[in-house]
Amino acid sequence: MMLLLVAVGAYLLGSVPFGLVLTKMAGLGDIRTMGSGNIGATNVLRTGRKDLALATLLLDSGKGAIAVLIARILTDSDPLFAAVAGAAAFLGHCFPLYLKFKGGKGVATYLGTLLAFWPFSILIAAACWIGTAAIFRISSLAALVTAVAMPFVYLGGGKGILFFGVAFMTLVIFVRHRPNIERLLKGTEPKIGKKDEKKE
Ligand code: G3P
Repeated sequence: MMLLLVAVGAYLLGSVPFGLVLTKMAGLGDIRTMGSGNIGATNVLRTGRKDLALATLLLDSGKGAIAVLIARILTDSDPLFAAVAGAAAFLGHCFPLYLKFKGGKGVATYLGTLLAFWPFSILIAAACWIGTAAIFRISSLAALVTAVAMPFVYLGGGKGILFFGVAFMTLVIFVRHRPNIERLLKGTEPKIGKKDEKKE
């Protein structure tokens, strides 16, 4: 019962679409009709509002981290509860109740859960993301490279149940990035910050 409560609470927290809320509050309209149509920080950046993109990144990451931290506090750091809370918050972002289950791609929330799961792992994730982005200037590619690397990092770190949570989220990230993967293969995926991308 406790596990279900933690999962539902984390899912509802993860469902809050901060990118959409912030861009609407700023009078920019519905972010889902712009750029890639995604509600995440990368697409918010395409509006030209770096401040809103940064706030979206921090808030979307924060909801993943907070879900895991609350689960830890409630359960005396039971790793099963932490893994379920992180995965549930992440699923909330990707399939939010408040947007009829049409949400984002999960990258920022994934990174927030990694931070709370195992703080050291966020350093490796950040190095993967920044390194790939510095070379290719493509956000989705940086996210996919990071998502491939992280299960191996958790496996190598002997992180048990948390490994399964990370591997599950990696799988969902790939499913959510299918349009991006198609564009990457065609060579048409836009560079970071470019404003003239067509909606998926
Ligand atoms: O973090 C999301 C990113 O990987 C892709 O976003 O808007 O380019 O589809 P977008």
